[in-house]
Amino acid sequence: MAHKPTWDYSDKPGAKRFPHLFKPVKIRNLTIPNRIKYAATEDNLNDPSGFITPAGLEYMRERAKGVVGGICCMQGVYMDPKREGQGYVGQAAAWDDRYLPGLTKMAEAIKGEGAVSDYQLMHCGRVGGVDIDHCVGPSLVPQRLKIFRPVKEMTREDIRRTIKEHAEAAKRGSQAGFEMMEISGIVGYLLSNFISSYTNRRTDEYGGDIEGRCRFMVDTIENVRDAIGKEMPLMIRLCAEELLDEVGGNTPEESMVSYKLAEKAGIDCISVTQGWQESGTPVITRDIPQGKWLYNAKRAKEAVKVPVSMAYRLFDPAIPNKAIGDGILDIWEMCRPMIADPHMPKKVLEGKLDEIRPCVACNLCLARLFRDAPMTCYVNPICAHESDPSWQAKPAETKKRIIVAGGGPAGLEFAYVAASRGHEVHVFEQEDRLGGQIWYAGKGLYGDEELMGMITYQQAMCKRHGVDFHLGQKVTPALLDEESPDSLIIATGVKYGHPTVPGIEKHPLVSALDVVEGKATVGDRVVIWGGKKPAISAALILAEKGKKVTMVFKERKVGKDVNPSYIWRYIQKLGNKGVKTYKEADIEAFTDDGVIVKALYETRIPVKCDTVVYAEREPVRDLEAAAKEKGIEVQVIGDALVPRSLSNAIHDGYRTGIRI
Ligand SMILES: Cc1cc2nc3c(=O)[nH]c(=O)nc-3n(C[C@H](O)[C@H](O)[C@H](O)COP(=O)(O)OP(=O)(O)OC[C@H]3O[C@@H](n4cnc5c(N)ncnc54)[C@H](O)[C@@H]3O)c2cc1C
Ligand SMILES: Cc1cc2nc3c(=O)[nH]c(=O)nc-3n(C[C@H](O)[C@H](O)[C@H](O)COP(=O)(O)O)c2cc1C
Ligand code: SF4
Repeated sequence: MAHKPTWDYSDKPGAKRFPHLFKPVKIRNLTIPNRIKYAATEDNLNDPSGFITPAGLEYMRERAKGVVGGICCMQGVYMDPKREGQGYVGQAAAWDDRYLPGLTKMAEAIKGEGAVSDYQLMHCGRVGGVDIDHCVGPSLVPQRLKIFRPVKEMTREDIRRTIKEHAEAAKRGSQAGFEMMEISGIVGYLLSNFISSYTNRRTDEYGGDIEGRCRFMVDTIENVRDAIGKEMPLMIRLCAEELLDEVGGNTPEESMVSYKLAEKAGIDCISVTQGWQESGTPVITRDIPQGKWLYNAKRAKEAVKVPVSMAYRLFDPAIPNKAIGDGILDIWEMCRPMIADPHMPKKVLEGKLDEIRPCVACNLCLARLFRDAPMTCYVNPICAHESDPSWQAKPAETKKRIIVAGGGPAGLEFAYVAASRGHEVHVFEQEDRLGGQIWYAGKGLYGDEELMGMITYQQAMCKRHGVDFHLGQKVTPALLDEESPDSLIIATGVKYGHPTVPGIEKHPLVSALDVVEGKATVGDRVVIWGGKKPAISAALILAEKGKKVTMVFKERKVGKDVNPSYIWRYIQKLGNKGVKTYKEADIEAFTDDGVIVKALYETRIPVKCDTVVYAEREPVRDLEAAAKEKGIEVQVIGDALVPRSLSNAIHDGYRTGIRI
């Protein structure tokens, strides 16, 4: 094992700009050089029996590099051979000594990068039993979400065995060489199931009032402490506000009682969490303003004396820096920002803020976990492929002169990746600005301006790797003759259009782009022709202005192109704003005062409206044939290939960039 480096941040630009993030904090007897923690992240990268794989190790090693001496927590392990506590098919296990070698490698990988290695115990409770027919909990309270298994009520014997399993798995963590440990009581997992009055209806000593409901937590903490000895810092993640109002649950005051009881039982640091899988209140989607939940950290600081940490939409380092300076937080945790960019805090320290690949809070990573798929990230193509050399950008064998037609996210991603490998890359963009459709997407409501962060990042990376920009210049066959490149990348995106149907001339039609840009004149009653992301953006903008909006689309559901872990937010917002939707439908004809919608079961529904907004896309790649005729190597990427999303644009751009 390499000797742990000593960290001196004093001459680093980030430490001057964000001084509170780069000063030490003490947890029990351990001094951590900064206030940064990579929060535990299931990645589904372990093998089906819970053994750690090279992919999982390399994933963590990158994050350990990123925290520049801070805390790096491995994903929560499950601890029972019956697998009732296992919430994810690829969750790491720790219920037997045979897992020790893998856990030891994990601790060493983290420590090898100079980070503080943190190990997490996570019995998934109501979310558990992923590979069996049930999960367990304190009481038989039916699931609200269909994707989870039926709950089996734990007997006292089950409870005592589970506490013992926590202690045994904790001992394995300390034998593996981890320097810190934590117990996860986050969103709806076993610990929080016991603490919450929503899921704990027991009348024995593990139920009743908040003290009784916390007994399982207290006993677990005490048994884990006995197993790991007096030296190791022990942390817990606990809910400060359940947001379960529609079904009951704890009051925020009761939650603070659980904090005090945890502290009394010997916990050295508390990570503040909020919300619950079964709650209808979103906590981490893009529409939640960054820093919104800091008031819960403040409440926690007032309730306990041990250090308090928190994640949950603290993406901009200025926010936790201020919160720590104001004394309402001690440690800045983050999960998704470091899925998107494993070196995020390192870049903060080095003053390279514009080189941070920003998480867009889309929750694809979560959606994948709950669908038994390995981790992936919307904006980070290498995520979960860290151990695979074929995913890395290597110097090009033959250097080429490449023209990229289109400065949207696909073209920009390709450009800097190819340039980083030694190619000469020229991006031509017909507009006088970069970003393509993301420029419009960023005008959507509810945090969508964060999408443009991706373009800022790509521009910074293009600058770093010497990409040449030609703004306001359209690539044409004549330009290809003039420039005679070796390769042409067609990243020209889409055009917005509509079919011709009878009577179409009777109505003003406007494009979704003009609506989001605020350029279109739109009447009070609007029909949106389309149901994907651009259509949703336009519908929400118009509904927010008080327009009566109806969406007509061919797909079986609105937002077919939106992640399952995010679409519910849009559905909620469209519903709250009274937007009417016709699915599996189309506009069949225009009339004097509206349109005829051909809906399900061949029904014809007249809808009165003043304006129709078209929001469907068609790929633009008319350069392809001309370039091929001239003998130029051609590749088509992003929406120009098939209209899809920011994510596909980035992933196409990256993959083409590392291979050309
Ligand atoms: C309102 C709206 C909301 C959206 N919301 C989301 C969302 O929430 N999440 C999501 O993932 N996606 C969203 N999208 C879709 C997303 O923006 C696109 O999928 C993505 O931008 C495609 O990237 P691209 O680079 O392939 O193409 P584009 O972004 O379309 O970029 C193509 C670029 O090429 C340029 N160009 C075209 N022809 C030429 C030429 N001959 N020479 C030079 N330049 C040329 C264009 O001017 C344009 O700048 C939204 C789109 C819109 C319009
Ligand atoms: C893909 C994914 C996996 C997660 N796995 C765990 C886990 O194993 N244990 C845990 O306590 N929290 C887990 N969380 C919660 C995060 O640690 C974090 O608290 C949450 O994502 C909010 O922080 P953020 O806004 O910085 O992402 C996970 C979150 C995500 C997105
Ligand atoms: S998948 Fe989406 S939410 Fe998850 S880290 Fe990547 S950008 Fe962020």
